[in-house]
Amino acid sequence: MGEVVSLSGARIRIDRRGLPSLYPVQNVDLSVGAGDRTALVGESGCGKSLTARLLTGLLPRNAVLEKGSATLLGQFDLRKDFPDEVRGRRVAMIFQDPVSVLDPMAGIGTQIGRALAAAGVGKSDRGRAAVDLLGSLHIPAPDEVARKYPHQLSGGMCQRVAIAMALAPKPDLLIADEPTTSLDVTTEVQVLDLLEEYLDSSGASLILISHDLNVVKRLAGSVTVMYAGQSVEYGPIADILSEPAHPYSRDLVRSSVLNRGESAYSIAGTLPSIEEVTPTCPYRARCSEARSPCSDTVLGQSPSADGFVRCLFPVRTMPGNGGGER
Ligand SMILES: Nc1ncnc2c1ncn2[C@@H]1O[C@H](COP(=O)(O)OP(=O)(O)OP(=O)(O)O)[C@@H](O)[C@H]1O
Ligand code: SF4
Ligand SMILES: [Mg+2]
Repeated sequence: MGEVVSLSGARIRIDRRGLPSLYPVQNVDLSVGAGDRTALVGESGCGKSLTARLLTGLLPRNAVLEKGSATLLGQFDLRKDFPDEVRGRRVAMIFQDPVSVLDPMAGIGTQIGRALAAAGVGKSDRGRAAVDLLGSLHIPAPDEVARKYPHQLSGGMCQRVAIAMALAPKPDLLIADEPTTSLDVTTEVQVLDLLEEYLDSSGASLILISHDLNVVKRLAGSVTVMYAGQSVEYGPIADILSEPAHPYSRDLVRSSVLNRGESAYSIAGTLPSIEEVTPTCPYRARCSEARSPCSDTVLGQSPSADGFVRCLFPVRTMPGNGGGER
């Protein structure tokens, strides 16, 4: 198959009637191999969900991949129309809010049946297969749950049903966008267990989006840090958490609540406007390491031990780190 996801210099433009276009994703590089479990992290509004939507064919109608290359499953060029045979089948997405995914008017069994139909399961087998799938996700009394409607289930149960629908076609790539944010801690653990079980048994790849670095640490082996629509650092999760190279990664880790402790640190300032593309470093106004070359150097990727960083003065010295555009 080759790489499951390969994004290079991806830029997404959103057009607005009578208003300037927006560039919420400006320069994203992302590479996911078969069986890789990777995460996208970064503060709210930095373009994580839109990047995920690009990969699932769910970009808003007024959004387009304006620049860069994007290849899915080693063969599909996302600059063209999103391939129908991939949508919801080989690539599946789990959203933060399961209620937005579930149809309030249809029973759970019927909804899972639809997902199974997309996966090629015959009509006569779908009812049983839906119950089996619920059972395999450790949902108690799966027969009963299959007969219920979304409003009769708790938020945690709805999320498990949404996960069952995403996993029904046995996708090669699972994208989980804040899958546990709306859940209590006990349900969160159960949902993470389910995802891990599926990944272990299927060998599928994962892109996890989460604000919670504890969740990232639990599921992902590598992480891409995004800032203002750019991928600013990529590397193994252990390196990014213990020795980040990009000043923003360092500040993000400092400001996060790791190991369920308390963080007293917050990054001053706000994200730059997405009304224009920022060719130089977007973190400059907030960066404690900023020096004069940062204001006019167009940044490229510099290699790190097992990844890359986009910064002129990384806080961890990289072998062969040159800084400016390649
Ligand atoms: N359809 C749209 N029209 C206009 N702006 C949009 C649209 N969708 C997203 N945006 C803007 O694009 C930026 C990136 O959005 P995105 O949802 O990708 O952020 P995110 O990193 O997922 O944030 P969060 O962590 O809050 O979920 C935000 O400023 C958002 O307001
Ligand atoms: S390029 Fe300069 S301003 Fe940007 S993150 Fe690196 S040190 Fe900070
Ligand atoms: Mg989001």
